[in-house]
Amino acid sequence: MKGYPRVRPRRLRLNKNIRDTTAETDLTPNNLILPVFVKENITTPEKIPSMPEILRYPVNDLLVKFIEENYEKGIRSVILFGIPAFKDNFATSAFSKDGVIQKALRLLRDTFGEKILLIADECTDEYTSHGHCGIVNYRGDKYYIDNDESLKVHAKIALSQAEAGADVIAPSSMMDGVVGAIREELDKNGYSDTLIMSYSVKYASVFYSPFREAANSAPAFGDRRSYQMDPRNSFEALKEVSLDVEEGADILMVKPAHTYLDVIRLVKQNFPQYPLAAYHVSGEYSMIKAAVQSGWLDERRTVLEITFSIRRAGANMILTYYAPKIAEWISEGVPF
Ligand code: PBG
Repeated sequence: MKGYPRVRPRRLRLNKNIRDTTAETDLTPNNLILPVFVKENITTPEKIPSMPEILRYPVNDLLVKFIEENYEKGIRSVILFGIPAFKDNFATSAFSKDGVIQKALRLLRDTFGEKILLIADECTDEYTSHGHCGIVNYRGDKYYIDNDESLKVHAKIALSQAEAGADVIAPSSMMDGVVGAIREELDKNGYSDTLIMSYSVKYASVFYSPFREAANSAPAFGDRRSYQMDPRNSFEALKEVSLDVEEGADILMVKPAHTYLDVIRLVKQNFPQYPLAAYHVSGEYSMIKAAVQSGWLDERRTVLEITFSIRRAGANMILTYYAPKIAEWISEGVPF
């Protein structure tokens, strides 16, 4: 056969312009959500040993400056995690008017108006002495996470976050019915325009370890396997997602991201009409950092390849500690 091969896939890879023009996936700062730690009772940013180059911010002009810098890079969405000075068994500081997250939301709302989309992580683990994502109760001397008691607290936290100016509430507790409980509480109080981005499919993952150091939120006893999903399961994700959709979630999330690309694809294929977020979590961040610091991987190429993979799998938005760097790198052109 003369001229064989007639079909040559390599033609589409011939030079950068052809590759860029025919690329199936793109990545812009609009796809990025920046996670930010805000801590009560500090005045200057603090380093986090397990997450090189990530800081905990005080609720003051230094936080504003950080968000401003990211705004300049094109990042319009942030998700806030609060680290309170006070913890108890009922997460009281999570729904106090003057809680750290409420103060940060008000400051950013007053400063930026509608320029920044403010997302509030909604959970109890950073605010409870026991560090669980709900209320702990006992049957005899055996503890359990009381699902329906927890719902009342999660609804209260969500409402106080909406009152403080959050555009989006992001429940991350994996309690059954939490999306519905929050939706009802918000609607009852005049916040029917407040969105819910649900951590619908959140696995019981080792990759949250650096975050737990960052947010001081490791469980004091037990673990999260009775509420977060088993890493061996993927189809169960569709059950979690169906329930969240029924309960009124606006945006869905899969977490972690890099280790669960199959789940991202599965959810996107089955619920294409819902915006899907994926969370590139702390451990996924720190693994890359460690390899980069050892000189084993090129940071820019590694991060862009992984982030594009998460987009390719089907995520519309990516929560990533690398957001500031990614925004810079993509403005210089992608290395493909
Ligand atoms: C719970 C929450 C966690 C993360 C986000 N929200 C921790 C957990 O479930 O233990 C982890 C994020 C990360 O690892 O980057 N409030």
